[in-house]
Amino acid sequence: MRVPAEVASTHPIPHRTMSLSLELLHVFSVFLFVGGLLGRTVAQAQARRATDIRDLDAYLRISSQFENKMVRPGSFAVLGLGLLTAWLKHWPFAPLTWVSASLLLFFSAFLLVPTVFIPRGRLFRAALDDARGQGQVTPRLTAAMGDRIVAVGHAYEWAVVAAITWLMIAKPF
Ligand code: HEM
Repeated sequence: MRVPAEVASTHPIPHRTMSLSLELLHVFSVFLFVGGLLGRTVAQAQARRATDIRDLDAYLRISSQFENKMVRPGSFAVLGLGLLTAWLKHWPFAPLTWVSASLLLFFSAFLLVPTVFIPRGRLFRAALDDARGQGQVTPRLTAAMGDRIVAVGHAYEWAVVAAITWLMIAKPF
């Protein structure tokens, strides 16, 4: 979108430079977010294979680092910088466009946190504390780590990332 000459001439940073910089930061934040998702997935897969509770604990600590230092801040940065870029580039949100469809998909994945990951995480934490107390990987812990509902939730997160990436690039509607 072109900026009126009087606005462009009075603003210290050209509009195009601003929107391109924000878009670049948005894509960098996607690296942080998706990098964290990948790291967390690998660490959790290793934790599931561990036969020693100390190894399992170590993998879970790595998984939490990915979650807390990359996935969580990354998801907020992707959202905030994406919204700012959309606003600066004057991409429409209505009627349903690739921007609003991406937002809806993104929020649908956020909804998994209170509905699936927090309640299932509580069951997992109880099984982990119990296994730590016994000093071994218990069948209860193995079952909690193989939770199908959590696995489906994580698969949905990846599907959303793939779908949004396509929407961002193809901008089909
Ligand atoms: C998993 C989440 C996301 C991923 C993987 C992602 C990925 C990308 C990629 C790869 C681009 C560059 C596309 C291109 O220039 O052709 C982009 C641009 C952009 N993204 Fe996202 N994005 C995500 C979430 C969001 C969200 C939630 C918004 C919110 C509105 C958003 C808004 C934008 C905007 C406005 C652009 C600039 C498009 C343009 O002007 O060409 N993104 N995103």
